[in-house]
Amino acid sequence: MSTAQSCPLPTVSLSKYLEEEGQNKNAESQLLKSSLPAENDCHTQAEDSVSDVPKYLLELGLTPECKQLISSLPAEKGWVANLLHQYQGFWHTTRQLQAVLTCQNHFQAQETDILLVTTPKSGTTWLKAIVFALMNRVKYPNTDNNHPLLSENPHILVPFLEYGLYIDSQVPNFTTFTSPRLFGTHLPLVSLPESAKNSSCKLVYLCRNPKDTFVSLWHFTNKLRTKDMGSNSLEETFDKFTRGVSLYGPFWDHVLGYWKESLENPERVLFLKYEEMKEQPKLQLMKLAQFLGCPFSNEEETRGAVDGIQKLCSFENLSNLEVNKTGKLASGEEYKAFFRRGEVGDAKNHLTPQMIEKLDQITEQKLHGYGLKF
Ligand code: A3P
Repeated sequence: MSTAQSCPLPTVSLSKYLEEEGQNKNAESQLLKSSLPAENDCHTQAEDSVSDVPKYLLELGLTPECKQLISSLPAEKGWVANLLHQYQGFWHTTRQLQAVLTCQNHFQAQETDILLVTTPKSGTTWLKAIVFALMNRVKYPNTDNNHPLLSENPHILVPFLEYGLYIDSQVPNFTTFTSPRLFGTHLPLVSLPESAKNSSCKLVYLCRNPKDTFVSLWHFTNKLRTKDMGSNSLEETFDKFTRGVSLYGPFWDHVLGYWKESLENPERVLFLKYEEMKEQPKLQLMKLAQFLGCPFSNEEETRGAVDGIQKLCSFENLSNLEVNKTGKLASGEEYKAFFRRGEVGDAKNHLTPQMIEKLDQITEQKLHGYGLKF
């Protein structure tokens, strides 16, 4: 029988990390400036004129390497930011692409790292909350009134690699992280930094059926668009999504990459589905704990620790917390945009039968023969 005590549960040195976050926020505009190429004389003027624009829309501070790469890549009109660029087979905004390159060039994975991987809108926020609660359950029992998840958004507790830590081309300070380090990423398998590909760090991949993922992404990106931009039509974005032109898309290629890897290396990659997490949360939570090397003990199960974590991380609980109703990421996205309905099957309330049929057909074509069904 395993016990929580015998399991080397890691903890993030939270206060230190949060302190650092605060400093980072203050230092942000400075960082943005210092990461700009020297010849970018128009920056000050450009920055002044975009001071009201959320940071996630800014496309300043590109390195010459990134600029040169972009000029050679296929591009399409973006859903929120101006452009999407196809790099290593997947679509990124300009700002993200710079961050992907920086991350690929600098991130040094450790054998004990845990990477939480998703396509956008597959339940990343939920997975981050669950894994944080799971891995830190000795230091922060779910019954703790001061549990970090009650006062911080999961994206702060488990930062994104390319989307957060490397977004402004700075070299992140990892000294505040304790082992095992938890990171989130939307990077497709092919684009993971070499050190992550080659190390034995664990990857947890969470996917969601493409219909609900698309609908969630459509809503989310419309929330990120400024008033001046207006909303994207469902039809136009649907067309893009089906052609694979979406954030970190093609959706199906992203999923398939990790699905195949999970079959080849089940010790290294755990493949989870949002729908199964919704249907059997307890079972999936226990599977996750087992995979991460921290199985629940009988004693923990008896005293309701599994149910407690499930409840703590539920949509109802997280979405109603003050922090998640009012806060926002340093890059400008409001936390509340990450919580909408949190249900399975909402796509049928938005998509026409023809759209549903089309997505089902693509899914069948792309995933047929690989034993992966939605
Ligand atoms: P909907 O738009 O369908 O409601 P991500 O975290 O990858 O950005 O995904 C966001 C989606 O996950 C949204 O889906 C959001 O409502 C849902 N979500 C957020 N927190 C959740 C939770 N604790 N449990 C279940 N779903 C959650």
